[in-house]
Amino acid sequence: MALATSDRGSWSSRTGFILAAAGSAVGLGNIWRFPYTAGENGGGAWVLIYLVFVLLIGIPVLLAELSIGRKTKLNPVGSFEALTKSKFWPWVGGLGVLTGFGILAFYAVVAGWTLAYVYEAVTGAFAGSISAEQSSAIFSNIISNPGLAILLTGLFLLLTILVVRGGVSKGIEKTTKVLMPLLVIILVILAFRSVTLPGGMAGLSYLFAPDFSKLTGTGIMTALGQALFSLSLGMGAMITYGSYFPDDANLPASGVQVAFFDTAIAVLAGIIIFPALFSAGVAPDGGAGLVFVVLPTIFGSLPAGNLFAIAFYALLAIAALTSTISLLEVCVSYFVDNRGWSREKAAWILGAVCFGLAIPSALANGASPFFSDFLGSGFDFLTIQNNLWGNFSLTIGAILICVFVGWIWGVDKALGSIESSGHSMAGKALFRILIRFVCPAAILAVLIFIVITGNFF
Ligand code: TRP
Repeated sequence: MALATSDRGSWSSRTGFILAAAGSAVGLGNIWRFPYTAGENGGGAWVLIYLVFVLLIGIPVLLAELSIGRKTKLNPVGSFEALTKSKFWPWVGGLGVLTGFGILAFYAVVAGWTLAYVYEAVTGAFAGSISAEQSSAIFSNIISNPGLAILLTGLFLLLTILVVRGGVSKGIEKTTKVLMPLLVIILVILAFRSVTLPGGMAGLSYLFAPDFSKLTGTGIMTALGQALFSLSLGMGAMITYGSYFPDDANLPASGVQVAFFDTAIAVLAGIIIFPALFSAGVAPDGGAGLVFVVLPTIFGSLPAGNLFAIAFYALLAIAALTSTISLLEVCVSYFVDNRGWSREKAAWILGAVCFGLAIPSALANGASPFFSDFLGSGFDFLTIQNNLWGNFSLTIGAILICVFVGWIWGVDKALGSIESSGHSMAGKALFRILIRFVCPAAILAVLIFIVITGNFF
């Protein structure tokens, strides 16, 4: 196997890594997927479980992935090849590359919708006050138009390819540095507006007051899936990003900061969506369209609301872009490291294949009856992909990564890599217990529960 190192690259600094990793983590997962999944699963209790999963499973798995990548300086497949002689583990890396593809092929569709919303905002669609019905009509016009949905998906993938072909540090760091803080500012302003809307407080209690009678087995599964999805875990993205981590930088601190930042953005998105939703009288379990329908109802009530709308959707599109970059990057880094392809060739070919795979999801929201109710399952194709790759596959990947680090490669070696810059990590004994016992057992319990109850979606 040819190991082409010249086309790899590394972050220019620790800040560069934090920006890039936060860029990967923060995206539609926080602002689109977290609120609608919380809404479908009854709010507070689900949010609490999600937060517990971030702390107990997310952070250890994040550190485990980064430690592997930093050690090997390779993509997920190459990493497992370098650390074991076994033929099995590289397949786990392969599953990660495949999962990256699977996620990108539905994520790019939703990311495409954000482009349409930038256009709508620029042309003044959200200038005045808008009812939930009007907003919902705008949304369904966009997503049910087959040509438009495919075009938007293709456009988004094209943007992703153009950044990835330029290489990690040049493309990603610069984009994130300026825009991430701007996104936070806009989110904070929107949160203030939303909680002060009439009836908004009911939304906050929906989000934060746990009602455990609303929690289902499927809900627990999706909370785990969401914790992994939001932190970009379970498929080797953080192995890949760890492989570009500077040798002298503090890995544990950076990892934990990224996890907290990502979770804070998701909660902030919840604080925006739920009060606005209760105020506008929209049902919380509206599914994948929730955020797209609810948000436009707030802009009209803000001074210069249309400018806000433009800035918000542009930043959301960019946050989605820094995430799609990391998804494509995992696949590209595999073909560059292990297959000897040039970065340019890998980016174009893989991006094009992904576009083909994304078309059914682009048609799944009304454009094609076949994909909108796939095989009569009652689920649209995008939702199926979202669950399959974005929950199940990541969960399987995460448990395998825990077993690998905890039992095969060894916690001591992982800690050696985590602390290789001389920055020591607090809570090493806890990390050891979590990664060897608690995480695999908890993930396995969730999986068994799902199989027994048969409630896959
Ligand atoms: N975490 C991103 C989000 O929340 C999505 C994402 C990017 C991702 N790379 C990933 C999810 C790798 C899982 C694995 O929007």
